[in-house]
Amino acid sequence: MTRAFAKVCTGLALAVALTAGTAVAEPSHAVPWWKGAVVYEIYPRSFQDSNGDGVGDLNGITARLDYIKSLGVDAIWLTPIYPSPLIDFGYDISDYTAIDPQYGTLADFDRLVAEAKKRNIRIVMDLVLNHTSDKHPWFQESASSKTSPKRDWYVWRDGKGPGKPPNNWQSVFGHGGWQYDAKTSQWYWHKFYAEQPDLNWRNPKVAEAMYNVERFWIARGVAGFRLDAITTLFEDPALQDEGTVKDASGKPVINVFGEPQLDDTRTNNLPEVHDVLRQVRKVADEASGKEAVLIGETYVANIADLKKMYGAQDDELQMPMDLQVGFINKLDVARFRTLIADAETGLGAHEPLLVLDNHDNPRWDRYGDNVHNADIGRVLATVILGSRGAAMYYYGDEIGMVTTPPTRKEDVRDPVGVTGWPKEKGRDGERTPMQWTAESTAGFTAAGVKPWLPIPSSMTLTNVASEESQPNSLLAWYRQLGALRKTNAAMRDGDDVMLNTIDAHVLTWLRRAPSGEAVLFACNFTAEPQKVGFDPKALHGYATNVTALMNTPGQVAPSSLTDIVLKPFGVIVLQLH
Ligand code: GLC
Repeated sequence: MTRAFAKVCTGLALAVALTAGTAVAEPSHAVPWWKGAVVYEIYPRSFQDSNGDGVGDLNGITARLDYIKSLGVDAIWLTPIYPSPLIDFGYDISDYTAIDPQYGTLADFDRLVAEAKKRNIRIVMDLVLNHTSDKHPWFQESASSKTSPKRDWYVWRDGKGPGKPPNNWQSVFGHGGWQYDAKTSQWYWHKFYAEQPDLNWRNPKVAEAMYNVERFWIARGVAGFRLDAITTLFEDPALQDEGTVKDASGKPVINVFGEPQLDDTRTNNLPEVHDVLRQVRKVADEASGKEAVLIGETYVANIADLKKMYGAQDDELQMPMDLQVGFINKLDVARFRTLIADAETGLGAHEPLLVLDNHDNPRWDRYGDNVHNADIGRVLATVILGSRGAAMYYYGDEIGMVTTPPTRKEDVRDPVGVTGWPKEKGRDGERTPMQWTAESTAGFTAAGVKPWLPIPSSMTLTNVASEESQPNSLLAWYRQLGALRKTNAAMRDGDDVMLNTIDAHVLTWLRRAPSGEAVLFACNFTAEPQKVGFDPKALHGYATNVTALMNTPGQVAPSSLTDIVLKPFGVIVLQLH
């Protein structure tokens, strides 16, 4: 997460492969299904095209459910599939209770939910509450006149004078965040693109309309929502200017769009957000019999702020994303250790959800050194899937798909890249089609069809078909971790204790199940071999006999806890007994 969008968002607050298709028995006890779940993010445009139009669709996802199951995935988060003019590729919604024909029909959606259910996979929808498309009938009506009954559904204000917006607030996507409407001589607020006008959450009718959207999808079988840009719902009603962020020498920080970076204090993380979250949770609980999960896109500055997103009475989000770990951007052992330990100790009994990458930020290869990338991919997978809590990863991570940004401005599809070019190339690079095979269209779409984004040349070596034939592939590693999370008590239920806490090269942690089982993980974060030793006293009373559960290809599996040498970026996973 190195680029503008991510920066802006931080600024916003600052082993055994499962057999494909085999149903895994659901735990019958009262633990909510999402505890410890693996959530797989799919960008539907780019996963699998089933009808040869170069755009991925719902039937394509349904056709790939056995593959998804083979990863040990419990839930799929679908980025928006609602009708949309696609200015922000679906995050500009023009109808909240329908499916965009590019992706299929409601019947296709029902079939996806039902087929997923057969495999014990749940579907989580993306819900964009902060804004709609400017083509949404609500906005069209709101913009039609100052006296429209829906005028107050959006944030309309007078300017400060001719051509002067109400204040200095900016859009996350660059430039001013107020759009002038000549017809009614007022400005409307848009935290994101001008085609994404912000809803006015101070209007109870807006809230009720959105709660009905929740009810609609829960009745249709969805297992919860990922709440988009949830911290941005409210703005300061007094419209005070935001302050400018200054660097250490006191100079204003200039963002990639060439403008002063604002401090976001009047348009993000206002306390009212929590009132809405409590309502959204109440509606979800009532409509689903407390089955639904709320995941939040929560760019916040630290663990204390993240904890607040769960709600003082555990009555807001069950799983706000912990996106901090994604901003480390280098294999810095101390930083990873601190942030994972924070998630373990700073959230009370709440479920952590560590997130390393997604459709808005560069993929995992930002950690790569182009020499040891496959092993670095294993290190990152182990951190995400070996830590306590739910785990989320992004389609294609499991085969090592790399960020492939456009090389020419005319190829850019993402509005962020259109505004920010050439400094900011946008988010197309992490949204390229899934690489299924080494064929010219990577098995994503039919031969001869032009996919909506180009297929990266890396697909010749990095693709599902070739990795399925290699027992040591990154895909095999992800599947083994996914399977262990289901079968190994310590990995499933264990707490998470950092070991060797001053080691600057190797991240080591212990997972301890209430039943007494323990699993030890050690990941070499460097390109040099590293010796690891364990003080038995620091092992919390666990025996030091070991069985190797997993180790990086080429890594000698240790038979004891003494004299372990980890190869460059080597990983070992050991059962203690
Ligand atoms: C979220 C989405 C991002 C989108 C933005 C505006 O950050 O993840 O893709 O552009 O919200 O909806």
